[in-house]
Amino acid sequence: MDKLVIRGGKPLHGTVRISGSKNAALPILLAAPLADGPLEYANVPRLRDIFTTLKLLNILGLSTTFEQDRVLVTPASVLNHEAPYDLVKTMRASVLCLGPLLARQGRARVALPGGCAIGARPVNLHLTALEKMGAVFDLEEGYIEGRCDRLKGAHIIFDFPTVGGTENLLMAACLAEGRTILENAAREPEISDLAEFLIAMGAKISGHGTSIITIDGVASLHGGRYAIMPDRIEAGTYMVAAAITDGDLILENCPLRELDAVVSKLREMGVGIEETPAGVRIRRSSELVNADVATLPYPGFPTDMQAQIMALMCLARGAGSIKETIFENRYMHVQELVRLGARITVSGQNAFVHGTDRLIGAPVMASDLRASASLVLAGLAARGTTAIQRVYHLDRGYESMEVKLAGVGADIVRARE
Ligand code: UD1
Repeated sequence: MDKLVIRGGKPLHGTVRISGSKNAALPILLAAPLADGPLEYANVPRLRDIFTTLKLLNILGLSTTFEQDRVLVTPASVLNHEAPYDLVKTMRASVLCLGPLLARQGRARVALPGGCAIGARPVNLHLTALEKMGAVFDLEEGYIEGRCDRLKGAHIIFDFPTVGGTENLLMAACLAEGRTILENAAREPEISDLAEFLIAMGAKISGHGTSIITIDGVASLHGGRYAIMPDRIEAGTYMVAAAITDGDLILENCPLRELDAVVSKLREMGVGIEETPAGVRIRRSSELVNADVATLPYPGFPTDMQAQIMALMCLARGAGSIKETIFENRYMHVQELVRLGARITVSGQNAFVHGTDRLIGAPVMASDLRASASLVLAGLAARGTTAIQRVYHLDRGYESMEVKLAGVGADIVRARE
């Protein structure tokens, strides 16, 4: 297993190019079984979760090639309909093949994802909504077995604006008979990117990006080309990297509009963020001061940036708080940050952070994707050496992070544990 070894205290200077969005690429690739013709995707990040997704498409019978940032998918005349547990357990987003398989094949057998490090994360809202469209589900040997004739349009009101649930239903409804209306739908930019991809393939969708999405089913979707949006969470992470090291970074390909809540919180904390012809420039505009953050569905502050902003708060003046409202167990980075000298206490869904002047490097353990990013950020700012173990979590979602960071002056190397 690999670890990252960081000698902290070096301000980052230079330009970082933001990669394609993991969370947009996953559903957009998993929508491939819906199309009749070949698909060409651009701006696909080279990440472990993307390779897992391509493996799943191969298991379903589609052939794929991945060169640089381009993925080609060739459709299959007959699809398999099983997503095996070995794959689903490594990537929960595999459950997003349920909607496309039911819509295209009338049959799907997808391993039920278990709990994950950040919480229980059930898929009950996906299943209830698909049932409204005519699917029937059984749970057998740990697998969700779904069957249907052609899915029928339905009026679905989600109990909670679930991102994956909205994506699954959006894909399923494209080939359903009649109109589907999704209310209380998630509004994340990655959902709009999925909708734009489906529209480019011939789907009839309106209202994406709002909480009411209308889909008129069509008989088939064709192939085509599509470029994935840039990764707003990766961009937000590098914004914190510039601020926490007192550096000066330009982010190319940065989706600034989709980062509104993060940008306004960082500005409140004393971080300058401005658009320039070269890209988005990030540097401190004053002393860092603490803030209060609550994670919320988009357009609120993203839970996927909670761990990273906490690292910054550890080094900001005064006290701040975080309220995590999306996941029930997303504070596993706290004890690791405390090992570096951070002053944080957790009570239920709230974390209280008292800023300190310095962090001191230590060996720490990554527990999930964004927790790993927060430890890298803290390590970049800490005095001495921070060794982050279980870095495979980071490889799921950040393309060449240590290469990008070393390119702007960080002292960071990957080593064998
Ligand atoms: C997606 C993102 C993830 C992000 C999350 C919230 C991808 C691949 N992953 O995850 O990075 O952190 O959105 O922005 O895009 N829930 C239920 N029942 C359901 C579905 C969800 O109770 O059927 C609960 C979950 O347990 C969780 C909350 O709703 O507590 C949010 O889940 P959801 O919005 O569905 O997130 P994901 O699609 O899993």
